[in-house]
Formats: sequence, structure tokens, C-alpha cells
Amino acid sequence: MRRLRPDALCLTTEPVGQPCISPDAGVGRNPMLSALAAQILGALLAGLLAVLLAPRLLALPLALAALQGACAVLASWRLGEPAWRLPIHALFMPLAVLVHGLDLPAWLWPAGLVMLLLVFWRTDRSQVPLFLSNRLCRKAVLDLLPASPCRVLDLGCGDGALLRQLARARPDCRFVGIEHAPLPWCWAWLSASNVGNLEIRFGDFWNHSLAGYAVVHAFLSPAAMPRLATKADDEMAPGARLVSNSFPFPDRQPDAVVDVTDRRHTRLHVYELQGARRS
Ligand SMILES: C[S@@+](CC[C@H](N)C(=O)[O-])C[C@H]1O[C@@H](n2cnc3c(N)ncnc32)[C@H](O)[C@@H]1O
Repeated sequence: MRRLRPDALCLTTEPVGQPCISPDAGVGRNPMLSALAAQILGALLAGLLAVLLAPRLLALPLALAALQGACAVLASWRLGEPAWRLPIHALFMPLAVLVHGLDLPAWLWPAGLVMLLLVFWRTDRSQVPLFLSNRLCRKAVLDLLPASPCRVLDLGCGDGALLRQLARARPDCRFVGIEHAPLPWCWAWLSASNVGNLEIRFGDFWNHSLAGYAVVHAFLSPAAMPRLATKADDEMAPGARLVSNSFPFPDRQPDAVVDVTDRRHTRLHVYELQGARRS
């Protein structure tokens, strides 16, 4: 049986006892700086190896780039970066060399950067990338709403698809989504315009109070969970429910776990708030 490892907070579902690199490994340092460091160290090491052992490589840009990729992987691993970055380090320089050969117009690069920013915003700071709840997860969240009319919040609502489905299925409830990435927010906001009981707000959900919501849904990342646990304890009313897709609070057993029968073996961690920290 495969199950989520509570000890390592893995996004992946390695069996307990197997080595596991959590998606937030290495987040203590600035992730942009450590990625840059891995690339620079990879370039220095590859240059040194080429000069000392195989000077012919200096005339072969693609082969040199492949060597730099291998060295950057090594540096990234030694720097303790998360495993998902290794293939990116391996391919970054070889792809840069290949694409450079295509002689594309210069404006394409800043345009690509702006596009990435609009979709993902400051993922390097939030440590929460954009990935969306699937249909089966959305249905499982719907089943977790109380029978009586209530207010529901989605922290980082992405394209708003989850909330649209919930809002249509439960016209007696009110739904709020907050999103800080401009393009997903714009899409969510536009698509919510014909859904009367759904409001999409632009902004940082850390600045939004969780008080007054019967259910708060979060699909974030392990890096966000300690702060979210404190925020939920401080602000949510006793009896309110926090549903976290995939990522549990650290050092706390959920009150219930819903196993979704999707391909990812998604788990919804359900916490019934006690309001213990409210004074
Ligand atoms: C994993 S996606 C989940 C999307 C949606 N809730 C769902 O379940 O399909 C997380 C979203 O949170 C957004 N996000 C991350 N940090 C945020 C913050 N501090 N304020 C607002 N949105 C944030 C990201 O831009 C991303 O769209």
C-alpha cells in the first residue's frame, strides 16, 4: 500500500522507511540564490575539467554544456536542493545552447519572463507553485462542506475552478477565493462573474483573516504549513474546519483524512479547529 509519509511531508508517496526528498528540502536558504550557485559552480567545475582533461570540449559548445549540466546536478545535490531541481539543472545549459542556435528574436526572452511572472508570480518567495485540484478532489471537498449554509474560503484559489464547482453545487453557501498571481486571478475573477455566490479577490491571503469561515481550503506546499497552522489556530472559530490538500500540519494529527481515488493518491487532511489560541 502506498501512503503519504507524515514524517517527511513528501508530495510524493514513497512507502514509509524509503528515502524521500521533500519538495521543500533546502528552502531555508533563498531558492533563487542556491539555484544560481549550483549553475555557477557547475560552470566552474566543467570549465576546470575541460581545461585539465579534455581541452577538445572547449570547441564543442553542446558537449561542454552537457558537462556543465552534469556538474551543476552534482553541485545542486551537494547544496541540498530538492530532487525536482536536478533535471532542470541538467538540461538548463544544453537547452540554452540549442535555443541560442535558433536565432530567436531578442524580445522573446523578456516576454517569456513576464509571462512566467504573470502565471506563477513570486513562487520563489511564497514557495507555493500553481497546480490545480482535480475533479475528484473537488468532489471530495464538496462532501466535506457542512449541510447548513456557510462561508467557505480557498487560500490561493488559482484559476478558481474548485470554487466555481462548489459554488454551483451549493447555492446556499458563500465562497471566497484569494489569489496573488495576476493571470490565474484574472481568469478566476472573469469566470466567477456569472456565479452569484462566489467572490474572487486579488491579494495575499496571509493578510486576510480566516475568522467567519466555516471551511477553509488550502492546497499549498509543506513550506507554508507551519505558518498556516498558527494562523488557523489564531483566527478560526471553534468547530470551523480546515481542509488541506496533500500537506499536513507539522507535528499534528488531522482529525480526519480523506483518501481521494485519483492517480496521485491525494489525501485531504481535515482539521477541526478548537479555537484554543484565541484569547
Ligand atoms: C497549488 S495552487 C492551488 C489552486 C486551487 N486552490 C486549487 O486547489 O485548485 C496554489 C495557489 O496559491 C497561490 N498563492 C500562493 N501563495 C499565495 C498568497 N500568499 N496569496 C495568494 N495566493 C497565493 C498560488 O499562486 C497558486 O495559484
